[in-house]
Amino acid sequence: MKTVSSIGAGKKDELNTLPLKGIPWLELQDQLREAGKDDVDWRNGRVPMFIHYAGDDVLEVAKQAYLMYFSENGLGLRAFRSLAKFESEVVEMGLGLLHGNALARGAMTTGGTESIFLAVKAARDLAKKRDSGRGKPQILMACSAHPAFDKAAHFMGLDTVRTPLQADFRADPAAIEAAITPDTVMIVGSVPAYPHGVIDPISEMAALAQKHGIWMHVDACVGGYFAPFVKQLGENIPDWDFLVPGVTSISADLHKYGYTAKGASTLFFRDAESFAGMGWSFDNWPRGQYTTNTLVGTRPGGAIAAAWAVMKYLGQSGYQRVTQRVIDTRCALQTGTTALGLTTFGDPKLSILAYGSYEHNIADIGVRMTAHGWLVGHVTTPPGLHHMLNLTHEPAIPRYLNDLSDSMSQASSSKQVGKLSAQY
Ligand SMILES: Cc1ncc(COP(=O)(O)O)c(C=O)c1O
Repeated sequence: MKTVSSIGAGKKDELNTLPLKGIPWLELQDQLREAGKDDVDWRNGRVPMFIHYAGDDVLEVAKQAYLMYFSENGLGLRAFRSLAKFESEVVEMGLGLLHGNALARGAMTTGGTESIFLAVKAARDLAKKRDSGRGKPQILMACSAHPAFDKAAHFMGLDTVRTPLQADFRADPAAIEAAITPDTVMIVGSVPAYPHGVIDPISEMAALAQKHGIWMHVDACVGGYFAPFVKQLGENIPDWDFLVPGVTSISADLHKYGYTAKGASTLFFRDAESFAGMGWSFDNWPRGQYTTNTLVGTRPGGAIAAAWAVMKYLGQSGYQRVTQRVIDTRCALQTGTTALGLTTFGDPKLSILAYGSYEHNIADIGVRMTAHGWLVGHVTTPPGLHHMLNLTHEPAIPRYLNDLSDSMSQASSSKQVGKLSAQY
């Protein structure tokens, strides 16, 4: 298994040491600025992922609120009633959007991966409680689901099974049903799945989960705070949240399309029984009871305060306004790539667009786009380019399409004409 190399490894002759004397802040500011000079220019739309920008005003609200609660710790809700209030209001606002009823519960976490870990833990523990005779518990999902489920499974002693997609890149409920075993403790659907940006058939998958008595998790880390507004704007997307019987839990990231500061996600449960497995409690040490809802202990108070402030600042009308502009940006990119002869993967209705080529070597196009100064996101199956859009891309689309056209005119042709494939 490949791992990230440890920081500083292999550079023994140039090791950085803690300075003997402190360096003045103004000097450090310069160094910080200088260090960022070679970063890819996300502000001008050159980064197709990692950033979710909704305007300078929203960024300012997030920053100011974060700074106001910079030192406070979300582990200490006894001390910081402010953070307890912000978190419970954020959870209530989220549950309202996702149609949780009075029994539904939730909590804030520090990101999508943590939300997914905790959903997996809760599903595993509930299955064990109900039927301790099971074998090694197993998570079942389409091959397009996020790797965080495999990461969680690896860390917590579960297996994963990934099934093929339908021709439209959505999860295939028939393949999922065929793969269910007595050890399946969770079925995962994505809204949307990251690689192709399409929404899985959640109702069908949740019906299967219900029929077989299995926990159904909807990973809406990308779409949780985007899809509800797309629907409010009149787009006909099928129900996927707690309105769908059988959906047990939902992960929805605030630091993506909630536009809040990084370090903020939400995890929601249909009822108190499913929520119970999220928490953990311990008292066999000399410092008394230690109870957390989350995987981490200390939690950044700033991220909790910023989430609360941005949600209140934008409100439903603000989110609708930004969502409409992101959808328009995705449509402009889709129209432009289609006009250039490229093929969109599936029928994306949200903020992700992925496309490939029958005629050109898409990897070669990617290399040429990199030379034009764009950070390129790749899809491997089928080979394609990938964008998760936000408002930084709105003014960048014409320039992007121009460079794309230029790259295509120089790129080699696909060796497998008629199939969407150009080998990496
Ligand atoms: C569908 C989906 N789920 C989960 C995650 C993990 O989120 P995070 O990077 O916040 O841990 C991502 C990240 O892009 C995602 O796209």
